[in-house]
Amino acid sequence: MKTDEAIKTELQDKRESVTFGADRNKDFSKEPMCLSGRGVTRVFHTGKTTTVAVDHVDFDFHRGELISIVGESGSGKTTLSKMLLGLLEPTEGQIFFKDKPRDISTGQKKKEYWQGIQAIFQDPFSSYNIFHKIDSVLLDCINMRGGKNKSKEEKFAMMKEACSFVNLKFEELTNKYPFELSGGQMQRLMIARIFLLKPDILLADEPTSMIDACSRATILDMLLNLRNETGMTVIFITHDIGLAYYISDSIYIMEHGKFVEAGKAEDVILNPKAPYTKRLISDVPKIHEPWDLSTVG
Ligand SMILES: Nc1ncnc2c1ncn2[C@@H]1O[C@H](COP(=O)(O)OP(=O)(O)OP(=O)(O)O)[C@@H](O)[C@H]1O
Ligand SMILES: [Mg+2]
Repeated sequence: MKTDEAIKTELQDKRESVTFGADRNKDFSKEPMCLSGRGVTRVFHTGKTTTVAVDHVDFDFHRGELISIVGESGSGKTTLSKMLLGLLEPTEGQIFFKDKPRDISTGQKKKEYWQGIQAIFQDPFSSYNIFHKIDSVLLDCINMRGGKNKSKEEKFAMMKEACSFVNLKFEELTNKYPFELSGGQMQRLMIARIFLLKPDILLADEPTSMIDACSRATILDMLLNLRNETGMTVIFITHDIGLAYYISDSIYIMEHGKFVEAGKAEDVILNPKAPYTKRLISDVPKIHEPWDLSTVG
């Protein structure tokens, strides 16, 4: 049985070895605000039961920051993600996008908001229209980013660039449907889409859970490269506190719909205050086992 101190030292060593080319000491609080929330709450009523899935949470996500939201199953992570994405309305509280109250009251406004925020979900199948071939999936992204009038050659070059960013060969993908790809290829295609869409914010709800450890590390590596290259804000949702520590600038710990602790990754992990955070950290060897980040760096 490892002591908490031993676990922390091990985590710290790993974090230092896995830098992903990012500046670990950057102070993101000086960067412009990208997305923030005050008192954000979501209550569900089903029959006679009332569930407070997200309970008065406050958050400030800055430009270029990589934030992890960590909590166990049922803590409210996906409900919060859906509210951040504008797929679900808060029952109380307010979300701000680039310092202004977010307004997604009309279809047009929603569309505009979705130019700024995109998501990668657990199940890549749900992200694609299975009747659209892969070139049209990528072409849609170019068109959505105002590239409608670009020449065929330019569009082709952009699609090729996006594919090569994620180590996919565009020539092998043309004329295929998403369901003809492997799980790992599909995840890569998802990242290629993000590469083309260049949103301000990328929300990833445990995007790596479907694939094996080695592909996971590669996918994470690509996500982080994308962040470093484009300066997008990344919100990473996970139950793996060890992983959150390796990759994040800031961590929010979620328990029963509340943020019980939040701050810089170093502070939260090396000097945890909430008993729940301490418990998650002492569980790390169990949670962490399937991960192999030795292939990343
Ligand atoms: N549409 C809904 N109607 C009623 N209750 C819901 C609904 N969606 C979520 N809940 C409840 O809200 C709570 C939080 O669920 P949520 O899916 O946000 O958790 P999670 O942290 O994403 O869990 P996991 O790690 O398992 O994905 C749970 O108790 C869940 O049963
Ligand atoms: Mg969830």
